Amino acid sequence: MNHAELKQAILQAKQETGTLVLAHTYQDPDIIDIADITGDSFALSKAAAQVTDKRRVLMCGVRFMADTVKILSPDKEVILSHRKAACPMAEQIAPERVRAFREEHPDVCVCAYINTTTALKAECDVCVTSSTAVKIVKALPAERILFIPDQNLGGYVRQFVPEKEIILWDGCCPTHHSVSVGDVEAARAAHPGAKIAVHPECRKAVVELCDFIGSTSEIISYAKSVDGDVIIATERGVCDKLRRDYPERGFYQLAPHKLVCPNMKMTTLQNVYDALLGNFGDVIEIEEELRLKAKRSIDNMLKYGG
Ligand code: 13P
Ligand code: SF4
Repeated sequence: MNHAELKQAILQAKQETGTLVLAHTYQDPDIIDIADITGDSFALSKAAAQVTDKRRVLMCGVRFMADTVKILSPDKEVILSHRKAACPMAEQIAPERVRAFREEHPDVCVCAYINTTTALKAECDVCVTSSTAVKIVKALPAERILFIPDQNLGGYVRQFVPEKEIILWDGCCPTHHSVSVGDVEAARAAHPGAKIAVHPECRKAVVELCDFIGSTSEIISYAKSVDGDVIIATERGVCDKLRRDYPERGFYQLAPHKLVCPNMKMTTLQNVYDALLGNFGDVIEIEEELRLKAKRSIDNMLKYGG
């Protein structure tokens, strides 16, 4: 099958198998084209839970995203598009280490970025997304917070919640953390006058030099709303989307050789087709007790974050 035929076959297989296809914005543009819903990881999980006429969901993204879909939609068959697609940050802490920390610091509230494994979500008190982290940490009825795993997002939250003690873990997203001050300076020199929008998973020194800080969807909204050129300092899927949606605008990728997440780019169109037919990917299974514990952290996220 050539490329166009493969895309057509995917559309047909989606219909025949009654599968809802989700794709995170960082997926390859070809995958975005064939998806039913695209966006941030938590937005995708919420959207999938609201779809009642499809019992099968294919998540094109990384494992924690498919897990989150399953946590919120336990009665659906949830498939991860590529069994090896895993977010390295989500796996940077063993749950036992969180348990040990709690034993030493029983007053601490454990707050986990949504980019964590199910086992970690089950160990913590509340989850946050990059767009709700500040609001949730402020609202929590606790003075001491252990923020896992992303030191950069945690440090960003700390700036806005000085009244609380926020203890950081030393985790990070290898893709966003690789961006340097030099990369920002080079992009400014190449596109004078352009605004720079950055994800809070980048280092503090990088974030401080930028004009706007936000999650994937916040960066997209910002870039759409401002006049003039915008340099995008997050995974290149965001800039690819903006360029495709607004070809007349000047959107530029910061550090294009660095801001590519290898795990998010693992899934191919052929993988999607094979997964739809049940010959590829990984069917997500989560033991019910673990699912309920992890869901409690997500429920608390909705309680404190709205
Ligand atoms: P958001 O899409 O929630 O901004 O998260 C960024 C990310 O790195 C997802 O893997
Ligand atoms: Fe994980 Fe970073 Fe890739 Fe997102 S971009 S999936 S946080 S490694």
